[in-house]
Amino acid sequence: MSTEQQDVIDHFTARSGTYDGSSSWCTDQGLHRLVVSAARPAPGDEVLDVACGTGLVSRLFKGRVRRVVGVDITEDMADQARPHLDELVIAPAEALPFPSGSFDVVVSRQGIQFMSLPEAVREMFRVLRPGGRLVLVNLCAYGPEDAPEYFEVLRLRNPVRRHFFHPDDLGSLLRDAGCADLHTQRYVSEEDIDVWSDNGAIAEDRREAIREVYRNASPAFRRLHEVRTENGRYVDRMLFVVASGLRPAQ
Ligand SMILES: C[S@@+](CC[C@H](N)C(=O)[O-])C[C@H]1O[C@@H](n2cnc3c(N)ncnc32)[C@H](O)[C@@H]1O
Repeated sequence: MSTEQQDVIDHFTARSGTYDGSSSWCTDQGLHRLVVSAARPAPGDEVLDVACGTGLVSRLFKGRVRRVVGVDITEDMADQARPHLDELVIAPAEALPFPSGSFDVVVSRQGIQFMSLPEAVREMFRVLRPGGRLVLVNLCAYGPEDAPEYFEVLRLRNPVRRHFFHPDDLGSLLRDAGCADLHTQRYVSEEDIDVWSDNGAIAEDRREAIREVYRNASPAFRRLHEVRTENGRYVDRMLFVVASGLRPAQ
């Protein structure tokens, strides 16, 4: 276990009790529909949910496909996914303990930002059957104008994040791993910053530092994120990118 991975485990262990309510995107039905449509699951499919956490994505596939397997490194998160999985494996995404070509669909939402890249995405591609689909979902900056402030907010909210993405980055990771038939879709999720920053794993001074970024946000950031205040609280329209690609048939 690397130091980075142990830091991730400590962070998500602290958050595990309240994770599902810690962001509105966690249970956003529109985002869920987009993830499923990008994955195009068939009833006979075997699906792997990488960084499954509490199983919020796994449960979208359970009952819809032949088998759902979850993998994660944080036991206290993944234990909650058990009812939504046919099998749970505690292992790092960088070394998936499955033979090559095991799954028809591999999906990872809000996971790659914590992983060694590009190794983890290459592993996801390796365990995919020819003709199978790999789906990556992550928060991204809108572009160069908002990235410095947005990445600072993301870093403050979750200090164990290792990567911060622009919209094209997810597609590039898929292409570089070997995927073809690439598709990228966007989805905007609204977050009340006071709720979102109260994740159970950061101290009040970090939450205040996040509010401070919003208080002093540049006009470009305000415009792109359509930042507004409601009852003195900031609301941000955060961008998700849902990128999918196919492992070419041999
Ligand atoms: C933000 S949560 C996302 C959970 C779930 N995918 C979802 O969308 O709700 C991130 C999860 O990634 C897991 N994780 C982070 N780094 C990992 C790695 N290298 N290998 C496997 N899981 C990892 C964490 O333990 C945590 O459960």
